[in-house]
Amino acid sequence: MYQSVWTDTIKMPEFETLHSDARTDVLVIGGGLCGVLCAYFLKNAGVDYMLVEGKTIGSGITQNTTAKITSQHGLIYERLINDFGKEKAYLYLWANQEALEKYRQLSRKIKCDFQEKSAYVYSKWDRWAIEEEIRAVNSLGFPAELAENLPLPFETEGAVCFPEQAQFHPLKFLAGIARGLNIYENTFVEKIENHTAYTENSKIEAGKIIVATHFPFLNKRGSYFLKLYQHRSYVIALENAPDVQGMYLDADNTGMSFRNYGNLLLLGGGSHRTGKKGGNWRELRDSAAGFYPEAVERYYWATQDCMPLDGIPYIGHYSKHTPDLYVATGFQKWGMTSSMVSAMLLCDMILERENDWAEVFSPSRNILKPQLLVNGLETTKNLLTPSSKRCPHMGCALKWNSAEHTWDCPCHGSRFEEEGKLIDNPAKKGC
Ligand code: FES
Repeated sequence: MYQSVWTDTIKMPEFETLHSDARTDVLVIGGGLCGVLCAYFLKNAGVDYMLVEGKTIGSGITQNTTAKITSQHGLIYERLINDFGKEKAYLYLWANQEALEKYRQLSRKIKCDFQEKSAYVYSKWDRWAIEEEIRAVNSLGFPAELAENLPLPFETEGAVCFPEQAQFHPLKFLAGIARGLNIYENTFVEKIENHTAYTENSKIEAGKIIVATHFPFLNKRGSYFLKLYQHRSYVIALENAPDVQGMYLDADNTGMSFRNYGNLLLLGGGSHRTGKKGGNWRELRDSAAGFYPEAVERYYWATQDCMPLDGIPYIGHYSKHTPDLYVATGFQKWGMTSSMVSAMLLCDMILERENDWAEVFSPSRNILKPQLLVNGLETTKNLLTPSSKRCPHMGCALKWNSAEHTWDCPCHGSRFEEEGKLIDNPAKKGC
């Protein structure tokens, strides 16, 4: 069945559409996990707020995640220490650990199938990289361990284990925190001018605005069209496959991930830059047929992630020159903890409370990274490519995605149905 196991196992609460002009102290744009958590914390802090969502809450990336709540984001900590120094790597790790702890607390009140699990990054070939990462993580005060003899269908050189991490049902959690919040659905913001957001039918005046729309849609500020690209990944959910007793990720970006939900094994992978070719479900199905010949596929779906230049999300002021405009994006496949870190940090910033994480995640940090050149070349190439289908975001040539029957943009990842209807931003209209 082409939908995630999450969407098939819950009926989400519904909210009205905004039909008249409004005024609020803080406007949150985007009803994914990040935006709804922002609204939740603002409400609890007694702030006047409203949230508007272009479609329905959780109907974007949140419904398609694999919902792993962990501060283990691949083999990253040795690199973060080298690139940013030990203090920032420490803050990154412990910000994500605090996010995990916050989920643990909230999940005591919300039935969301929260389960404590260890998280593992395995390598098929590189024992040295695993050992180096464990040393790096231990130096930041976290008890990562070496794990061997993993319950995976192939040999590995071992894994970095983060104990006491978690997984849950993301939409059950979202539904739980969204109840009673001041949310408007099917209220699509077309543009923002100064402190006013314009929808098709109304305008909203706001003292401060948080853009939590997956890919930030304002091009004039912040240069997100240079700082981000998007990545697609695929998932199949298998019945009659083993319980792997944890959450597993390949150290190699093109490898597979494993976790269970109920009687299903969720197999993830087949990733590629949006608009490029990749393994998609075909790769996963081929692997599953070899690993688990008795297994039966129950669900299949795909997701899309914003990738930053340097491995750290952009959370904070939208740009140096927009003191009342905030953003949270670039979660690079780690949307659960990154959404929580964003909501905690942005809420502190709005309330003018000190938060040590602000500098680590600042969207205004140095962008001179090798990925900037890759992004720039990709955009230039696709702007110059002749094509009958062009992206309304900035005009790149769209590519046909034969696995999903969509038109995808290799520049910044907008996607469109075969007939041209918009699926994924930053484009704001169909092609
Ligand atoms: Fe930017 Fe297509 S998403 S040009």
